[in-house]
Amino acid sequence: MKEISVTSSFLVFDTLEELPNDIQHLMNQAVAIRKKAYAPYSQFRVGTALLLDNGEIVLGSNQENAAYPSGLCAERVAIFHAGSVYPEAKILKMAITAASDTNQTQAPIPPCGSCRQSIAEYEIKQDTPIEIYFMGEIGVIYQSASLKNLLPFMFDKKFL
Ligand code: THU
Repeated sequence: MKEISVTSSFLVFDTLEELPNDIQHLMNQAVAIRKKAYAPYSQFRVGTALLLDNGEIVLGSNQENAAYPSGLCAERVAIFHAGSVYPEAKILKMAITAASDTNQTQAPIPPCGSCRQSIAEYEIKQDTPIEIYFMGEIGVIYQSASLKNLLPFMFDKKFL
């Protein structure tokens, strides 16, 4: 028996102003689309902005449903839109922000497990890492240089 350890490292930015200009712009777009979320059940609004290698920015916000599981997270709304409209483009950068209507989120909000699995599919397909930035409504911003940091031991097509 032996122990193995897996580590992930992240960059932490204290303020939006500390981010590179293109990421500030991307995060501002994520904040704007977050406000358009359809979240009548959770009052938890999530916005995602993607920068593609063709220069396009693709946005998504969470879309809920009275039959709860039929709704979709902001991250998957955005990546599935990018995958359908620009199937040849690579997703280079992803900005995520979440805010509750009932309390102020200060902690960086990472993508949920299902979204991580979906993002992984695109990162593997394009063979290029996706830089992921995530934040709450206020507070620090985390950067993951690749989805892999967020999903060690990911399931992918090589196991099929
Ligand atoms: N949500 C997202 O949009 N992204 C995540 O990664 C986590 C959760 C949404 C789903 C639901 O509409 C609301 O946030 C509360 O879970």
